[in-house]
Amino acid sequence: MFICLYSVYMFGKNKLKIFAALSDSSRIRIVSILSKGELSVQDIALILGQSQPRVSRHIRILEDANLIIKNKEGGWVFCKLNRNQEIEKIIDFVCERKESDKDLSSIDFKRLLELQHNRVQEANDFFYNQYKDQYYIDSINKYNDQSIDEQIVGILSKNIKIPFNNLIDLGTGSGKILSLLSKLSNNCIGVDNNHSILKMARARICESELSNCEIRYGDITKLDLAKESADLTILHQVLHYFDNPDSLIEEAVKLLRKDKYILIVDFEKHQNEFLRKDFSHRRLGFHDEQIIEMFNRFGCKLIDKTKGVSVKGPNIEELIVKVWLGMKGK
Ligand SMILES: C[S@@+](CC[C@H](N)C(=O)[O-])C[C@H]1O[C@@H](n2cnc3c(N)ncnc32)[C@H](O)[C@@H]1O
Repeated sequence: MFICLYSVYMFGKNKLKIFAALSDSSRIRIVSILSKGELSVQDIALILGQSQPRVSRHIRILEDANLIIKNKEGGWVFCKLNRNQEIEKIIDFVCERKESDKDLSSIDFKRLLELQHNRVQEANDFFYNQYKDQYYIDSINKYNDQSIDEQIVGILSKNIKIPFNNLIDLGTGSGKILSLLSKLSNNCIGVDNNHSILKMARARICESELSNCEIRYGDITKLDLAKESADLTILHQVLHYFDNPDSLIEEAVKLLRKDKYILIVDFEKHQNEFLRKDFSHRRLGFHDEQIIEMFNRFGCKLIDKTKGVSVKGPNIEELIVKVWLGMKGK
């Protein structure tokens, strides 16, 4: 009730749609959990304990009131808050009130945390099994062919003075990027949260005598590395495993010193739904506009990108691997 009165007070009668949208407790719960980041409709339904059609109806009303933005990606729909200037205050107000209301919020946030925890667990099991069986390495190598490596080295050499000081590779896996780029940087750190895979990365570093490289165990969604310490942060084939890729870019940018660089290597937006089922992907690649929007939101600007390398194969609709380079504070 108080929230409704507040919305009228703040925005006047022309915001009746916002007023109506926020007059329902399920929709307030949805706005509140989305304040923690982007989520798919099926996850929102799981958290709320409601059917997908019911949640979709709420989502439609929130979208109609301009409170959230929907992004259809293959068979899934992702939702995020529409944080524009006009409605930012009302969203913050709703979320603050919801969080302070322990009874209402604790169950939703607990479920959200459980869901995120299970996802990490699933991803860990997936990566471990796939790496262990070699199958994953082979199939990923198909995408990471030499010409992509050439594009990465090319875009860095063209835009950055070599050697740079500190490179941090987020979700380093078996350390492929460290071995590719160790010659371009004085110090390199690779971070991953999968102990088994990190063993492979350490073995690779040892074998190739990459004395300027170091491997650390860590969760790239909440890093405890020093802020503003890196000249280059890299997310190589990592973003598409996350419902909320924005949070990774935010973390990667926090690590950068001003005027330094973030490199994303990932798929151009595609329609290969099977990658979700068979390879645990969450997002079906990214449009340039999505990357630019995320860069801008966290204080970076896109300064270069590659045309991409096309990957074709049986049962694969064309996949393009692209490289985007951003700069902080430009
Ligand atoms: C597809 S692999 C890419 C590995 C490497 N960047 C490459 O391209 O060779 C994704 C990596 O992200 C790691 N990862 C996933 N979630 C993570 C998290 N929350 N924190 C740290 N690493 C994570 C996985 O363990 C896996 O090694």
